[in-house]
Amino acid sequence: MSILVTGVAGFIGMHTAESLLSQGHHVVGIDNINNYYDPRLKEERLNQLKHFNNFSFMKLDFAVQSFSEKFINIYPDIDQVIHLGAQAGVRNSIKEPHDYMNSNLAGQLNILEYCRKLMERNNNFKKLIYASSSSVYGANSKIPFSVHDKTDHPVSFYGATKKACEVMTHSYSSLYKIPSIGLRFFTVYGPWGRPDMSPYLFTKSILEGKEINVFNNGDMRRDFTFVDDVVEGIIGALGKNLNAGDNSSPHKIYNLGNNKPVKLMDYIQIIEKICCKKANLKLLPMQPGDVFETYADIEISKEELGFVPKTNLNEGIRRFVEWFQKYHK
Ligand SMILES: NC(=O)c1ccc[n+]([C@@H]2O[C@H](COP(=O)([O-])OP(=O)(O)OC[C@H]3O[C@@H](n4cnc5c(N)ncnc54)[C@H](O)[C@@H]3O)[C@@H](O)[C@H]2O)c1
Repeated sequence: MSILVTGVAGFIGMHTAESLLSQGHHVVGIDNINNYYDPRLKEERLNQLKHFNNFSFMKLDFAVQSFSEKFINIYPDIDQVIHLGAQAGVRNSIKEPHDYMNSNLAGQLNILEYCRKLMERNNNFKKLIYASSSSVYGANSKIPFSVHDKTDHPVSFYGATKKACEVMTHSYSSLYKIPSIGLRFFTVYGPWGRPDMSPYLFTKSILEGKEINVFNNGDMRRDFTFVDDVVEGIIGALGKNLNAGDNSSPHKIYNLGNNKPVKLMDYIQIIEKICCKKANLKLLPMQPGDVFETYADIEISKEELGFVPKTNLNEGIRRFVEWFQKYHK
C-alpha cells in the first residue's frame, strides 16, 4: 500500500512510518520541520526513516491553501492517509493560538480537500485516519472517558482545535463519503518523545539535578500510553473497513489510551527509580487549560480495532530513559 503520513518527523509520525516501512508499505512522509521544539530532533527522526528505500519525504506546509491542489498532482495514487501533523501542546496553545488555527484548522481542511480529490480520482483510496486527543473531553468528571460522552466543553484552545478537526471531518465524510477514523490519543510517551512533554522534561531535570514543576501540587492522574501500543492502534485503524449507507457519514472515533491512569507522584517515583536519582520538586498550582485526570475507555477500540495496550509504565519509562541517555550522550 501507498500511505501518506503527515507530521512524519514528529514523535508519533516517525514511529508510525517506521512500523509501516518495516511491513513493506510505501510511505510518503511530509512535515514542515517547524521550530516548536528543536528541529534537530525532527531531522534525527527522519534520518532513522531514510534507511528504508520505500520511504519518500517532502518538506511541506500542509496549512497553505494551495496544498491540496499541488499535492494531488504529485501524489494522485495514495491508498490511505494518516494525518498526524499538527501543532501539539496544551499549554502553548494559550500563548500561541494562531499556530493552532493554522496547522490544526486550516491544515485539517486542506487534508480533507486532498482526500476529497483522492476520492474523485483514485478508486483505490480507502481512508483518512487522523489524530485527535483526550483533551476534547475537557474537564468531564465522568470516568473513564468514553467516545459516547459529550465533548462540547474543551478547556484549552488546543482541545478546541482537536474537537473542530473531528467536526470538520464529520462534515466532509457526510458530504463526500470519505471513510474517516479519528483517534483520540492519551498522553503518548516513549523513545524519541517530545521535549515539551513531562517524561522528557522530568527525566532531563532529574538527571541534571534541576527542579521539576509539579502542577496542582502533584494531585493529577494521567493515562500514559506507550508509543508502540498507539502505533498498533493506528495499524488496527488501517485495517478497519468503514461502509456508509446513503444517508450516513462513514466516520468513526476511537480512544487510544492505556486504560490505567497513574498518579503524578507515582509516575515521578518511577522516573526517579529508573534514573537512580531523587527529583527536586517545585509544587505549583493547577495551570490554565490543564485537566485533573485522563482515563480512556477502550472497550470499543478493543472490539473494532483489536487495540490492546501491552506496555506498563515501568517498562515504558525504562525504554524512554534508555533512549534519552543514549541520544544525549
Ligand atoms: N503525543 C501525545 O501525547 C499526543 C496526545 C494527543 C494527541 N496528539 C496528536 O498526535 C499527533 C502527533 O503528535 P506528536 O506528539 O507526534 O507531535 P509532534 O509535534 O512531535 O509532531 C507533529 C509534527 O507535525 C509537524 N507539523 C506541524 N504543523 C505542520 C504543518 N502546517 N505542515 C507540515 N507539518 C506540520 C511538526 O513539524 C511535527 O513534526 C498530533 O496531531 C497531536 O496533536 C499527541
